[in-house]
Amino acid sequence: MKSQTVFTSLGEPYELTPNEVVLEKLRLLNLQDGEVLLDLGCGDARSLLAARKIADVTCIGYEILPIALEAAAENIKKENATDTIEIREEDFFHADLCKVNAIILYLTRNMLGKISLKLENELPVGTRIVTHDFDIPAWEAEKIVHFKSSKSIPFTIYLYRQK
Ligand SMILES: C[S@@+](CC[C@H](N)C(=O)[O-])C[C@H]1O[C@@H](n2cnc3c(N)ncnc32)[C@H](O)[C@@H]1O
Repeated sequence: MKSQTVFTSLGEPYELTPNEVVLEKLRLLNLQDGEVLLDLGCGDARSLLAARKIADVTCIGYEILPIALEAAAENIKKENATDTIEIREEDFFHADLCKVNAIILYLTRNMLGKISLKLENELPVGTRIVTHDFDIPAWEAEKIVHFKSSKSIPFTIYLYRQK
């Protein structure tokens, strides 16, 4: 972790996913037109911006860190995506999950463990969830992909489906 990394009050780092890993995660989600995609802790909105180029999806991001919210707003404006991506300045523990089809995550394993109960209780059956670097504690992945970046950095990506 870089020394200048910014953290939330709960100690979650603001670390961005490399774009090629974002694309691999989105490939695994297999998004379809008309679906709702959430990014819980969306950072600079890079995953949502990439998703809308793949399918006609409704994109919602939750974020609380001012530096990330600023970056997301700037990127969304730059890509003229203000009408297709909504960023909610809100703790993702308050997110409404009842109409979600797919979720993209990049959180520490500790945080994945904390949010997993909400996901289990509130997500519709069949919702796909993708994460990388850290798996969701006690969940069984439907697919695990070992991905090597163009710089030969290995990433492990986990795909889950709500049962
Ligand atoms: C590791 S970064 C990932 C950023 C982005 N999703 C990506 O993959 O590039 C985790 C993000 O989650 C945000 N975050 C952590 N806890 C949060 C919470 N309770 N509610 C909303 N956002 C949160 C952090 O501010 C941070 O931007």
